[in-house]
Amino acid sequence: MTLQIAPPPAIPAFNPDRLCQDLTGRGWSQQTITDTALLTALRDEAMTLWQEDELSRAGIGRATDHELVREIRRDKTRWFDGASPAQRGWLDFAESLRLQLNQRLALGLFSFEAHYAVYEPGGFYRRHLDSFRGARNRILSSVLYLNPGWHSRNGGLLRLYDESDDQAITDIVPEFGTFAVFLSEEIPHEVTPALAPRFSIAGWHRCNDLARAPALQTKVLPIAAI
Ligand code: OGA
Ligand code: MN
Repeated sequence: MTLQIAPPPAIPAFNPDRLCQDLTGRGWSQQTITDTALLTALRDEAMTLWQEDELSRAGIGRATDHELVREIRRDKTRWFDGASPAQRGWLDFAESLRLQLNQRLALGLFSFEAHYAVYEPGGFYRRHLDSFRGARNRILSSVLYLNPGWHSRNGGLLRLYDESDDQAITDIVPEFGTFAVFLSEEIPHEVTPALAPRFSIAGWHRCNDLARAPALQTKVLPIAAI
């Protein structure tokens, strides 16, 4: 007998119109992905990579102080390389999302990157932004959760904050199929300590706007001689 994992019906199924409304109105959205075959394949792959010790301790930007990093985040990650059908399935979904959002909201999304993440018991990620304001590098953050029957008492909640008044806006439970999307430069967020292994895929749609992100340009122009 195969185990049937059905996503809980409380959060409506993925709907691009609602996603666009949510993003323009409040900067974040919570949806449900209902393709159970894809979700199950992604969960199986994440679980296998974890069991086979194929994930690495996550870092922060270019930080090299590992103790400092451990105070800020404790998860293990593995970047997608598109090698498995499950990964390609999720990358295809992200690509269709990219095209729809560009068409409807003119976001200028250019590329997508994603990694599996596992928060082992005690894992957390302190409050942070995924992109510095004005960098216009990571535009849209998304997280797909892969944990059937997750209980709130296991912690591991994604807590979103209002940038202006520092209040928590909402807690997102990392239940199987739940898909959180938010603006990378505008929504501070944290992962509260998880008490059970917590599986997810974090992804970022980026723009390639060099004119607006001079700091990202690798070409160094010579300073004009005075
Ligand atoms: C991240 C992140 C949130 C989550 O990886 O940057 O904030 O719920 N993840 O896993
Ligand atoms: Mn983040």
